[in-house]
Amino acid sequence: MTLRHFLSTQDWSRPDLDALLAQAAAFKRKKLGDALKGRSIALLFFNPSMRTRTSFELGAFQLGGHAIVLQPGKDAWPIEFEAGAVMDGEAEEHIAEVARVLSRYVDLIGVRAFPKFKDWSVDREDRVIKAIAQYATVPVINMETITHPMQELAHILALQQHFGGADLRGKKYVLTWTYHPKPLNTAVANSALQIATRYGMDVTLLCPTPEYALDQRYLDFAERNVAENGGSFAISHDVESTYRGADVVYAKSWGALPYFGNWEPEKPIRDAHKHFIVDEAKMALTNNGVFSHCLPLRRNIKATDAVMDSRACIAIDEAENRLHVQKAVMAALVAGR
Ligand code: CP
Repeated sequence: MTLRHFLSTQDWSRPDLDALLAQAAAFKRKKLGDALKGRSIALLFFNPSMRTRTSFELGAFQLGGHAIVLQPGKDAWPIEFEAGAVMDGEAEEHIAEVARVLSRYVDLIGVRAFPKFKDWSVDREDRVIKAIAQYATVPVINMETITHPMQELAHILALQQHFGGADLRGKKYVLTWTYHPKPLNTAVANSALQIATRYGMDVTLLCPTPEYALDQRYLDFAERNVAENGGSFAISHDVESTYRGADVVYAKSWGALPYFGNWEPEKPIRDAHKHFIVDEAKMALTNNGVFSHCLPLRRNIKATDAVMDSRACIAIDEAENRLHVQKAVMAALVAGR
């Protein structure tokens, strides 16, 4: 039997995703269970986290399982990922051993590995999690690399619960770029594009210039999802017309891919678009729309205090849902083995 990982929602069918969301909603109603009794998960964090770490650790505990957090290079040995590497640098062991040894101890492996921000042609291959999935003999879960599938599920569950039903077709969905002092990962933006089109919404990617369009792979996924699930997909650089009539505003900041690894010339473009901040005036153009963000969020940089503290903001619900959807994913992967 083929080992089933959770690396991208695009690898999972709509009925499978719907079943996970239904199970997550059930876990939200009834917190404790025994679906992971006697089971364990290793959580490999190559980058910081607040929500992901807390919700995975607690989720495993609430289902009778156990989570072990490892931070390679900090509290665990630094790891080499290249096949055939002559390991005369910092790395003390190869992922070929790490993934296989962990697979002898635990039932699941979660991985957070952000891009290195030097060469997008390398980072877009997602080599760290792919290498772990290649060598692991237990299911691997993406805890954010160049996409963030757990955030996708939490986001959709928050929208379904806000709008009072599983069917999100016909909703006008705006994924807006926002300013941030640093060029950030495109992972959540890639993910939002994937999942919003997967659920048949009318999706507009709002960004300052064509240079801020996402990687063609994710634009292609969006087009394919629209063809399969209905809805629509467009890219806009016009703030007012894009916000007008929106049902959902989802904000994220990211660095423009043409400047990847050479960020100096991108900074003036980013600095010139601080007005992309989500504020009350923009939200007033929407169809009484909801606002969300994956968090962490810099207040009064990405969104104003007024928006964050408004009834329209469902970011805290979305963050809570991380716990429920991850329990559903862990339970499904363990049950599937
Ligand atoms: N949204 C999210 O993944 O949060 P953390 O980076 O705190 O885990």
